[in-house]
Amino acid sequence: KGYFTYDPGFMSTGSCESKITYIDGGKGVLLHGGYPIDQLAEKSDYLETCYLLLNGELPNAEQKKEFVDIISNHTMVHENIARFFRGFRNDAHPMAIMCGVVGALSSFYHDSLDINDPQQRMISAHRLIAKMPTLAAMCYKHHVGQPFMYPNNKLGYAENFLHMMFGTPCDDPEVNPVLAKAMDKIFLLHADHEQNASTSTVRLAGSSGANPFACIAAGIATLWGPAHGGANEAVLTMLEEIGTVDRIDEFVAKAKDKNDPFRLMGFGHRVYKNFDPRAKVMKETCDEVLKELGIQDPLLDIAMRLEQIALEDEYFIEKKLYPNVDFYSGIIMKAIGIPTDMFTVIFATGRVAGWIAHWNEMISNPYKIGRPRQLYTGYTPREFTELKDRK
Ligand code: CMC
Repeated sequence: KGYFTYDPGFMSTGSCESKITYIDGGKGVLLHGGYPIDQLAEKSDYLETCYLLLNGELPNAEQKKEFVDIISNHTMVHENIARFFRGFRNDAHPMAIMCGVVGALSSFYHDSLDINDPQQRMISAHRLIAKMPTLAAMCYKHHVGQPFMYPNNKLGYAENFLHMMFGTPCDDPEVNPVLAKAMDKIFLLHADHEQNASTSTVRLAGSSGANPFACIAAGIATLWGPAHGGANEAVLTMLEEIGTVDRIDEFVAKAKDKNDPFRLMGFGHRVYKNFDPRAKVMKETCDEVLKELGIQDPLLDIAMRLEQIALEDEYFIEKKLYPNVDFYSGIIMKAIGIPTDMFTVIFATGRVAGWIAHWNEMISNPYKIGRPRQLYTGYTPREFTELKDRK
């Protein structure tokens, strides 16, 4: 008692027990409920993976149908949410809007929610998974000044998202199935990643018994940073800044310079020190999308050359810095026509499944309020100085 270890960045602190996701960073392994991420990405889909994260098992055909129906049933948001959007500037960062609107959902689902009732917790999970794409697309529509598109529940999850993003009341074209599949994979590959900064934040916020929608808003805020989910946006910004292949060496040199804070965005990971298994799948999806759309993007040439240089460079090899999931996801989203500042919103849309699954797992088991200690480095006790005597 009274003794604690000091571990900045929680490099070696386990904060909980969890059955949801397993990562072996040394071997590049990521399992959800025991299933390898590449198998889920190839054979499953996002909603099935959500079910797995929430229930610990893949659904059978009947359970899947029921789950898809439930999620479809919850896709709309209260009309007052649309009014809430109008209060935001049109040029506001969509992640800023998402922090606000997802937190605001707590005001719509507050009284009915008893977090100690497993069924009510599941309803919150379903609401969040269902409403995130609707809110994400509303952010985009608000930005471009187009009317919000209502969800169409006949469409698949990712298809519906693309319909709400790019459809208008005057022109609502069919969604390209290759792009819908790629979008679904992006959601799936981001669905969970055990105790990362945003998930730990959701657990910490939830440990006080707070409303789950408010806890998820805290997760969204944490995800926003460029060291976490904001990296996918930062990758594109960096590629645009590099501009041409002949400038890559200059940026690689900056990244290696100890006195320069610049980092190659989309490289490195706290846990993966071999390769990021999500990045492998994402790269294949990236190829499929670019082929389907017939896109020859010069930024892609920069990305591919950068990847090659970094993989062969001693600095990156020694520090075990490999391309992570965000390196490729940005290129896919750019090809689909999603603006850069929406990338992290899409990460959040996928990750909401993991956040709420972890929140639910925590509440379902005995838990304590999260309360880390600190290493105090301030003054030792001293006498109060009267205002007149202060220098
Ligand atoms: N470019 C250049 N050097 C780097 C990079 C990079 N992208 N990442 C780490 N390093 C160096 C760093 O300078 C440090 O060097 P030294 O030992 O000489 O001080 C060493 O590698 C270890 O870095 P660290 O910051 O101590 O490692 P970390 O585990 O705390 O950070 C990270 C992990 C992901 C924050 C970091 O690699 C980074 O900032 N990467 C770029 C941002 C990025 O792509 N983030 C997305 C992560 S994947 C999506 C997600 O899970 O959110």
